[in-house]
Amino acid sequence: MLPPEPKYSPLSQTLRWSFRPLAFMDECRRRYGDAFGVKFMGFERPMVMISDPVAIKALYTERAHGLPPGREIVLTPIVGPRSVLVIEGGDHLAHRKLMLPAFHGERMRSYEPLLHEIIAAEVESWPLGERFAIHPRMQAVTLEAILRVVFGVAEGPRLERLRVLLTEVLEETASPLTQLIGLASRRFGGQGPWARFESKLRAVDELLYAEIAEHRKRDDLEQRGDMLSVLMQARFEDGEPMSDEDLRDQLMTLLLAGHETTATALAWTFDLLLRHQPELARLRESLEAGEDDYLRATISESLRLRPVVPLAGRRLNADLEVDGLSLPAGTDVTPAIWLAHTRADVYPEPFAFRPERFLEEGPDTYAWIPFGGGIRRCLGAAFAEFEMRIVLREVLTRCELRKADPRPERISRRNITLSPKAGTPVVLTARHPATSEPSLVAA
Ligand code: HEM
Repeated sequence: MLPPEPKYSPLSQTLRWSFRPLAFMDECRRRYGDAFGVKFMGFERPMVMISDPVAIKALYTERAHGLPPGREIVLTPIVGPRSVLVIEGGDHLAHRKLMLPAFHGERMRSYEPLLHEIIAAEVESWPLGERFAIHPRMQAVTLEAILRVVFGVAEGPRLERLRVLLTEVLEETASPLTQLIGLASRRFGGQGPWARFESKLRAVDELLYAEIAEHRKRDDLEQRGDMLSVLMQARFEDGEPMSDEDLRDQLMTLLLAGHETTATALAWTFDLLLRHQPELARLRESLEAGEDDYLRATISESLRLRPVVPLAGRRLNADLEVDGLSLPAGTDVTPAIWLAHTRADVYPEPFAFRPERFLEEGPDTYAWIPFGGGIRRCLGAAFAEFEMRIVLREVLTRCELRKADPRPERISRRNITLSPKAGTPVVLTARHPATSEPSLVAA
């Protein structure tokens, strides 16, 4: 038997989920407990949401489950049919195996100088004494990181063109309304906004294929630090490399999965820190002492309280019996990430911002799931946290910031993310000069 569902219509459930996701989930938790179903408009079956770590473990450790509905329809037009985000089964595992080395510790350390250069230049451009929103600034940083560290594009006209085009493309995918218009216009013959969007995507493709072709001609791929060079040299188990089309799809995937998410996680971290002065002071002290334990704990706590991606579900390929739940194969199930992160039985004072809770022990695999889990867990999780450490260290050691608006940020939906509605406005009250070369942030 499926768990209970809210009594109101699918339209009302979809609207509540879209515009007040946390209040909606909290209300369902209070009414129905650890598991409930939500009916989204346009989907045949309800999405069962779970939040008990025992049930989440059972879901994520079963490798046979498939993708949730919707992911393929929404993402494939942008990331392409070979993207690791949308392929399944053996093909998916083979791609993950090939891509993982690009995210290993040793490799990641080689990305640090460029990441540091990007954030150092960004900090220099911030206006002193004026209000500005930090979220768009973080988007600029993480876009630059993807273009230069992941794609390996050098300074020049191609980089500039990609910067402009990708910003436009990503902006168009951001709001739920644009997505709906896109889906509708595709259905009515690909005219209007969708046609314009597609022509921009084709222009991006041209630039990406030009970059891939240029990389192919190089004889110094082994020495190069970017991820495209690593992916180009990697081989599947049968000895074959990735084709150009495959490479293009993975590049778009890394962009789509890694840019907005990391920028949003950073913006939330600033929002939380600037509203919690004792924690901010402790973080600054620890950074000055050259430590990074408190920095790591702060990032874990920020991703706990403000998980950027709310759902990371599966379609069951086998029955799931756990925790009093008995769900047949074919059911769509997802952890409700924010609910899992705010359980009082796992996290005392669950709504308080307390990085200390992660100082003694790191996060629990199935009670802390901002990056999902199992065989589809975020491939870029270590890269995202590494980038966040570099950005936070540089900004907090060089800048005195205060929130321009003391109230906590409200949550709004951007694309698949839960994002700070006002973009986290801040004022830079002082900027210290860069003192030295980057101190290495352990990967
Ligand atoms: C704070 C930043 C990030 C968050 C919160 C985040 C979150 C997630 C989540 C929830 C998933 C789905 C996992 C699942 O279904 O179990 C995912 C998948 C993925 N992410 Fe991330 N992500 C972040 C940054 C990145 C970065 C920087 C990259 C790469 C540069 C990246 C690449 C991917 C890829 C390739 C997948 C698909 C994995 C698969 O289906 O096998 N992500 N991410």
